[in-house]
Amino acid sequence: MTLVQAIFEQYWPRWQQLLAPDTRIRLEGVPLSAFVGNNSSLLPDIAEKYLNVEELARWNGFSQEKRRSEWLGGRLAAKSAGSALLGKPEIDWPNLVIRTEEDGRPYLTTENGKVTPFISISHSGPLAAAIAANRPCGLDIQLSGERILRVRERFASLDEETILRSSLEDSFAETEQLTMLWTTKEAVRKMVRASPLLGLLEIRLLAGQGGHGTPQDPLLLTFTSGREPGSCPPIISVLCFFADNLAWAMGCLPNITKE
Ligand SMILES: CC(C)(COP(=O)(O)OP(=O)(O)OC[C@H]1O[C@@H](n2cnc3c(N)ncnc32)[C@H](O)[C@@H]1OP(=O)(O)O)[C@@H](O)C(=O)NCCC(=O)NCCS
Repeated sequence: MTLVQAIFEQYWPRWQQLLAPDTRIRLEGVPLSAFVGNNSSLLPDIAEKYLNVEELARWNGFSQEKRRSEWLGGRLAAKSAGSALLGKPEIDWPNLVIRTEEDGRPYLTTENGKVTPFISISHSGPLAAAIAANRPCGLDIQLSGERILRVRERFASLDEETILRSSLEDSFAETEQLTMLWTTKEAVRKMVRASPLLGLLEIRLLAGQGGHGTPQDPLLLTFTSGREPGSCPPIISVLCFFADNLAWAMGCLPNITKE
């Protein structure tokens, strides 16, 4: 069992209390250290084992080692999460395929076209992670760093920073708080199927509800956007927490479910 799986199993009951009651999610993570440096020579064998022919052709098209490891890690995490949500202990790797829509949104499918869960993929720093869910979902992870202070005007208003400060413990540094806001907005962008994608300043933080921003007690943030209700729900909720210098955010949209 990976560390991410262990965190998920331990804290999922609490996370579920904060999400819509019929939400089903599985979270999986793949440490990228297994793929880089001296281990990068193992990549072609790993790719051949876990990707189907179509995915392998796409993977072979990436020239940068970082992109190759992140893309592969995201696929492994999403296939594992999807399989777990479907209740399959053995993952049918070649039969589970991840394709992307025109705008880059990934979706899981099978060679024989069976109904599969919704998925969302993210990678940052040492980790690739994915969720599979019975509702349209969004996951984002982001390594915290000072750079966020220089770009804060691109995604955070003063009102939002005030809401965030009053919602979170003093124990979180400003960089960590801003990284959490960034990552929750990225999760919203992935969750909502809008064209063009929602802008970071277009997504507005309304409130923080309880929680300490830790895996055992995540913060629930609610957002809205100016888009018409047909293309974006009026209120979007995202769970977020901070662990091991990574901000995590995930959420699911109401109404549309896949069983
Ligand atoms: C995708 C995006 C929303 C978030 O990416 P990010 O926070 O920088 O990076 P992350 O690692 O967290 O997420 C990347 C993953 O998001 C997923 N993704 C990409 N586009 C997506 C979309 N439109 N909706 C949902 N998920 C998307 C992919 O799975 C991608 O990983 P992969 O390429 O390895 O499969 C951001 O990259 C973005 O705004 N992209 C611009 C999208 C765009 O304009 N596309 C036009 C292409 S024609």
